[in-house]
Amino acid sequence: MSSERTNEIWILGATGNVGRAIAARLVAEGVTGLVLIGRSEERLSTTFADLAGSVTLKRLASFGDMLAAVRSERPRVVVNLIGSYAETAVPLAEACMPGGSYVDLSIDNSTLASLVDLDHDARAADSIVIGGAGFGVLATEALVVRLCAGRPTPTRVQIDALSSYAPEEGVVGEAFAVTSVDVMTIGGRVYRNGVLTPVPLGSNLRTHKLPDGTTVKSAAVPSGELFAARQASGAPNIDFTSALAPTATLIRATLPLMSRLLKLPSMRRMMIRQMAAAKTKKAPRPRPFSWGHAVVDWSDGTTREAWLRAEDAMDYTADVLVAVVHRFQAGTAPRGAFTPAAAFGPEIATEAGATFVDVGAAVA
Ligand SMILES: NC(=O)c1ccc[n+]([C@@H]2O[C@H](COP(=O)([O-])OP(=O)(O)OC[C@H]3O[C@@H](n4cnc5c(N)ncnc54)[C@H](OP(=O)(O)O)[C@@H]3O)[C@@H](O)[C@H]2O)c1
Repeated sequence: MSSERTNEIWILGATGNVGRAIAARLVAEGVTGLVLIGRSEERLSTTFADLAGSVTLKRLASFGDMLAAVRSERPRVVVNLIGSYAETAVPLAEACMPGGSYVDLSIDNSTLASLVDLDHDARAADSIVIGGAGFGVLATEALVVRLCAGRPTPTRVQIDALSSYAPEEGVVGEAFAVTSVDVMTIGGRVYRNGVLTPVPLGSNLRTHKLPDGTTVKSAAVPSGELFAARQASGAPNIDFTSALAPTATLIRATLPLMSRLLKLPSMRRMMIRQMAAAKTKKAPRPRPFSWGHAVVDWSDGTTREAWLRAEDAMDYTADVLVAVVHRFQAGTAPRGAFTPAAAFGPEIATEAGATFVDVGAAVA
């Protein structure tokens, strides 16, 4: 098949929280060829009234229609923000081959593993596939890549994603609701002796004193940060906690039952519907910064620790996607399938506006 592509950048799920943010940034930069895609003409034209004339709005009624359109119309770049990544990520990434570039915000271990498994096909097709290009995955992956550079395989890695963001007036949204319900259904995960091992969701409760003087709690979730840290370090034992995990004692006590109930398809559908429609109120972010944190231990007794500081985690997520699109545009992205710091090195985190804060001796 020919690798001829248009010069268009398609944003699927553009009417959502992240889609609106990345569209605004790219238009402000004067990027041309933006095509904003959603399932409702009315939502598209209302949401993007301000951008009329600078972008193309395109209604595609379902995921199936989006996939067929990517295959037949051959955009150069696809930014997948429609969520449900277990079903949507791999088919869309494959539809970008040959010659196209794909990026998403997938954040579960198995989806990231399936995307990275496309590496051979993507190289052969002169394509680039990037999964997990947001605060989630990159904030900890960049630290692990940086701390492990030039060192032997560590024995243990502890990583923590401690996001802080200001919610907007609106609703939670379907894509985010699916991610949250998936987390509750899967339960917690850690790597033990190289094997992804179940632990109770909300276990490994930790309280962090952050470098900015504030504190935050976090606990275990089954997130793709584990996959990226394993890939970056090769460590047999890896723990990941998130400030988004339930940390209140009462809620943690109900999670095992909730997890069992959500395996029933009818319960899952009901929970996603209710959560997606739940109203969000505009509020300031709870802490001044979002932080990624990593501690890496080696068998010789060496320990290295570092933090990544970003501002609002949702803004930072949009900034990471924009930084990745810049790399696509510049032609400096490696061919293949990767998580973001594996593709571009930890520099992609600072290109998106974050700062590394080392504990103890500076990392070379
Ligand atoms: N890795 C990270 O750090 C990170 C950070 C933020 C978000 N995320 C993830 O990124 C995704 C996007 O987040 P978001 O907050 O922008 O979500 P959102 O506000 O719910 O937006 C997603 C958009 O996709 C469309 N959509 C939803 N379900 C769809 C489906 N089944 N088929 C086709 N289109 C669908 C909707 O638009 P229409 O209804 O108008 O078509 C919706 O506006 C979510 O999965 C979220 O969990 C990851």
